[in-house]
Amino acid sequence: MLGTAIEEAMNEQIKNELFSAYQYLSMSAYCESENLPGFAQWMRAQSREEMEHAMKFYDFILERNGRVALRALDGPLVEFGSPLEVFEQALEHERRVTAMINDLYALAVRENDYASQTFLQWFVTEQVEEEKNAGDVVETLKMVGDKSEALFLLDRELGQRRMEEQPAG
Ligand SMILES: [Fe+2]
Ligand SMILES: [Fe+2]
Repeated sequence: MLGTAIEEAMNEQIKNELFSAYQYLSMSAYCESENLPGFAQWMRAQSREEMEHAMKFYDFILERNGRVALRALDGPLVEFGSPLEVFEQALEHERRVTAMINDLYALAVRENDYASQTFLQWFVTEQVEEEKNAGDVVETLKMVGDKSEALFLLDRELGQRRMEEQPAG
């Protein structure tokens, strides 16, 4: 049985992961409006990954005989100044999510909830990759600057991202 505090925090994290999906989908829509289909594809794949993250928490709560209770989402950012700003926002967002996952892990330690600690380890590792992925694009976009040919090539490269199969966790 899942403890009340962990159940509450994991329900909150379902919301946070769904908000991430919502935010990335909004970023994808912005990239479409800027005629950057590759950037849009990357963000769309990212949005689907966040949806999967939400479902991992959803299924884990159910497996532990907890109660899933969905909550209202805030509106995502809609307007951005540039592709660089989109990815800077994405990086900032992932850093906030990392802090949330760390808080959740700390709670599981305080509650002596070993199953939750093991479950959360996948997310701890995932966040390292999430920050790196967004950070790498930020660095590349800084080098691209206002060179439209380089932006075109980067758009093509990012468009090759497909939905990766996530290992079970
Ligand atoms: Fe996530
Ligand atoms: Fe993420």
